[in-house]
Amino acid sequence: MRTLVVLAHPGLARSRVNAALAEAARPVEGVTVHDLYAAYPDLTLDVEREQRLLLEHDRIVLQFPFYWYSVPPLLKKWIDEVFLYGWAYGTGGTSLHGKSLLVTTSLGGPAEAYRADGVNRYTVAELLRPIEATARMTGLRYEEPFALYGTQTLDDAGLAAHQERYRALLASGAVREPELAAV
Ligand SMILES: Cc1cc2nc3c(=O)[nH]c(=O)nc-3n(C[C@H](O)[C@H](O)[C@H](O)COP(=O)(O)O)c2cc1C
Repeated sequence: MRTLVVLAHPGLARSRVNAALAEAARPVEGVTVHDLYAAYPDLTLDVEREQRLLLEHDRIVLQFPFYWYSVPPLLKKWIDEVFLYGWAYGTGGTSLHGKSLLVTTSLGGPAEAYRADGVNRYTVAELLRPIEATARMTGLRYEEPFALYGTQTLDDAGLAAHQERYRALLASGAVREPELAAV
C-alpha cells in the first residue's frame, strides 16, 4: 500500500508532537511524508502536482495539529483547491474513489474535554464531520481518526508510545472504519 501523509503544521520547527509523528512515519515502507508548509512557503499550491501525488497513493493521511477545532489554514486551502469538480467529485470526478482517508490530529486538550459533558462539548469525531463528509463526497473511505490528546502534558514515554502506535497503523494495510459508538 502506498500512503501519502499530507503534513500541515504552520510551525513545524517548533513542533514536538507532529514532528515526532512525522519522524515515526517516514521510515515506514510505502509512506511518503509531504510537508505542505515546507513545499509551499508562499502558500501558493501547485494543484496539478498535488493531484498527481494523490493519484500515486492508495491511502491519504491528513496530519495536523488541531487549531480552533479545525485544520490549519493551508490544509483547508489544499482541500478547497485540489478537490476540484470533475476531478474529485461531480461529473467524471472519480479520481479518489477506492482510496482511503485517515485523519491524524494532535490536541492540546485532554480526551475528557472532548465529550458532551466536557469543556469542548463535542467529540473529535463530531468536530471532524466536515472532513468525514468531504471524504464521502469524494469516494474516499473514511477511517477511524488517530487522535492524540493532551499534548501539553504528554511526557516523552507517552510520546514514544504514540509514535509506535502511529508507525504500526501506517505499516498495517488494514482500514478501520469509524465505530458507531464514537458518533
Ligand atoms: C492557533 C492554535 C489553535 C489551537 N486550537 C486548539 C483547539 O481547538 N483544540 C485543542 O485541543 N488544542 C488546540 N491548540 C493546541 C494545539 O493543537 C497543540 O499545541 C498541538 O497539537 C501540539 O502539537 P505540536 O507539538 O506538533 O505543535 C491550538 C494551538 C494553536 C497555536
